[in-house]
Amino acid sequence: MNFTCIGCGASYPLSDNIHTCPKCGGLLDAAYSFAPSDASTWKQLWRERRMSQAPADRSGVFRFRELLPFLADVSLVATLGEGNTPLLDAPAAASYAGIDRVRFKHQGFNPTGSFKDNGMVAAVARARQLGMKLVACVSTGNTSASMAAYAAVAGLRPVVFVPRGEIALGKLAQALEYGATTLQVEGDFDTILKLVFDLAPKLGMYLLNSINPFRLEGQKTIMVELMEQCAWRVPDWIVVPGGNLGNVSAFGKGLREMRDLGLIDRLPRLAVIQAEGAAPLYRMLHEAAASLTPVNHPQTLATAIKIGAPVSWPKAVRELRASNGICEYVTEQEIADAKAIIGRCGIGCEPASAATLAGIRKLIASGQIHAGDDVIAVLTGHVLKDPEYIMSYHSEKLHASGVLIAGTFANQLRPLPADLAALREVLEKM
Ligand code: F0G
Repeated sequence: MNFTCIGCGASYPLSDNIHTCPKCGGLLDAAYSFAPSDASTWKQLWRERRMSQAPADRSGVFRFRELLPFLADVSLVATLGEGNTPLLDAPAAASYAGIDRVRFKHQGFNPTGSFKDNGMVAAVARARQLGMKLVACVSTGNTSASMAAYAAVAGLRPVVFVPRGEIALGKLAQALEYGATTLQVEGDFDTILKLVFDLAPKLGMYLLNSINPFRLEGQKTIMVELMEQCAWRVPDWIVVPGGNLGNVSAFGKGLREMRDLGLIDRLPRLAVIQAEGAAPLYRMLHEAAASLTPVNHPQTLATAIKIGAPVSWPKAVRELRASNGICEYVTEQEIADAKAIIGRCGIGCEPASAATLAGIRKLIASGQIHAGDDVIAVLTGHVLKDPEYIMSYHSEKLHASGVLIAGTFANQLRPLPADLAALREVLEKM
């Protein structure tokens, strides 16, 4: 068990308090040598834990703790019952995308409404393991909401840095409500992250962004829970939105570990979907470049993925290569319409999550995904995270970079006087 640098290959004891490689600055993996014989008994153990009331067993992350051996003492886990999210069939979304069937793994059902809770429970346990008292993150919103909540449960002091005016109202409200010191910085996510990455260790703040390998350790269990829900039968595709690229990196690692352990017999293909105005990974792969060129001033109404310099890109590229994966981009109009369709399925999600369905539709049209493929999309955030976006779309006032987004599936509010005849007239026309 150690840290392994994915750049230069150096390794370090897992007890070190480091986020990146001290030698080359590369990204670190938490690397384990699992005993292969364990796999079959683990499936049974994980199933049995579903009957347990013990806090670590109720966690949809630490229920799979054999895959998280960095934490020997599960009493350090401050859980809100994260994970345990549903896998939902969505026939109307499938027909919209032109595919026989699509299922959504909805991470918006988490305690703070996004997939960040899966990673945060693990990284906050790690902060406690190291004896850190002050935790920090830079966020497009969901990480800050999640960190604020988990820090509160764990008795740590949270400081969040958010780009001013760039994060959805629901997320900002959560950070305040859960009691985080919330700093609105005049700058974009990428700029602020660079500043805070340097500053945090100097001020004794433990950084809980996804550059922290333990965030990804927690997030990889999203795939474990998913495979269990699929009775360990591997789908053809897992589709996920891409911002800072932590999630796809975590999914890829989790899937490879499960394959190496014999928990699954092959890897699904990973598809990362970016917003057109914030698609540096798409550009890099499309141009077959050796490294990622950041997008300056990224643009998208899906503020969760408004990121031009994703820190985890080397890990994301590794996982796309390992899984024969792909990266695609979608437009603002495609995201908005796909989101409305997911809403009409009774499921709903925030804008960034809807990039998945928009991406599937595009990849079906281009023949890269086939109509008969078994496709699972990960919806990353809850519909109520960004109510302003919803109200603008349905009142046909949503603008992206000054251009009006068509309200293709708009559902207009209808104001009426408290008058019987007026009510009757409207209802009779329904
Ligand atoms: N979807 C949602 C709802 C998100 O909040 C994020 C990232 C992503 C997708 C992209 O995931 O970064 O792992 O590729 N939000 C971060 C935050 C950056 O600060 O909340 P990624």
